[in-house]
Amino acid sequence: MSLDHLLQTNPRTTPAAVGSFHPVRVIAVTGGKGGVGKTNLSVNLASALAAMGKRTLLMDADLGLANVDVLLGLSPRFTLADLVAGRCQLDEVIVEGPDGLLVVPASSGFRHMAELSPAEHIGLVNVFSELQRALDVMIVDTAAGITDSVLTFCQAAQDTLVVVCDEPASITDAYALIKVLSRERGVDRVHVVANMVRDPNEGRRLYEKLARVCERFLGDVALHYLGAVPQDDWLRRAVQRQQPVVKAYPGSPSARAINEISRIAARWQPPTGARGNVEFFVERLISARSMAI
Ligand SMILES: Nc1ncnc2c1ncn2[C@@H]1O[C@H](COP(=O)(O)OP(=O)(O)OP(=O)(O)O)[C@@H](O)[C@H]1O
Ligand SMILES: [Mg+2]
Repeated sequence: MSLDHLLQTNPRTTPAAVGSFHPVRVIAVTGGKGGVGKTNLSVNLASALAAMGKRTLLMDADLGLANVDVLLGLSPRFTLADLVAGRCQLDEVIVEGPDGLLVVPASSGFRHMAELSPAEHIGLVNVFSELQRALDVMIVDTAAGITDSVLTFCQAAQDTLVVVCDEPASITDAYALIKVLSRERGVDRVHVVANMVRDPNEGRRLYEKLARVCERFLGDVALHYLGAVPQDDWLRRAVQRQQPVVKAYPGSPSARAINEISRIAARWQPPTGARGNVEFFVERLISARSMAI
């Protein structure tokens, strides 16, 4: 399936939008295990990057149990599901959060990404191709598990950020995810964030545990430690208030840690050429899916 063909079928996509390249860093946030803090990290990372002046889009790719909008206190009228089904336009599905953060909400109960039809692909392509000129970073919050949808979003992004916490299932699930990403999807570089740590050394210890097993059994994937976020009641309070903790309680331990991680991510060099174009993200997304079917 050619992306050009898909774009040509959309009269609203101008040639200028198709031709111009703007480097966009696409970061997929994942983890294998449920409940490790993927969505909170995605929402706060995106909010922190937006507050730094980065033009940021947060995409809720948890198509089964979407909740990015809930964490941000947004009430979207439409979601990604409406867009790909042709029930609304792009500008109707994007919601604006704090500091100009753009949010593409999903909707709970939406069927699995693998079931999207070609017509729905066109809708998905349009979401990103029409936004390409206005973005520096795109954060993709993925669902729990090692489903084809999760793997495909990670494969299509330039960076995969794996969230782990101090539970045996978290490390084994993260390992299983990294194994499939590296063996089946060609992902050779993974960033690790430890969440809900109880002391400053716990994050590093968790990372080393995961790195040791990856080194031993998967020689060809490089792990990088990005940092740790402490277990923090302020974060839970921010969740109750439906605000990112970096906004609601910027001086709290979790907000400070996430801000530090965001500063590191903000310094990553923008990708060059087509690899950095959001269109290319979509193209990889589609070709990865057709390879997997
Ligand atoms: N650093 C933290 N300190 C305290 N509580 C946290 C922290 N990170 C996450 N939580 C809590 O853990 C729960 C799960 O967080 P979150 O929804 O972000 O996880 P998830 O990995 O996205 O889950 P799912 O797999 O269901 O998508 C939430 O109730 C959240 O408030
Ligand atoms: Mg989540």
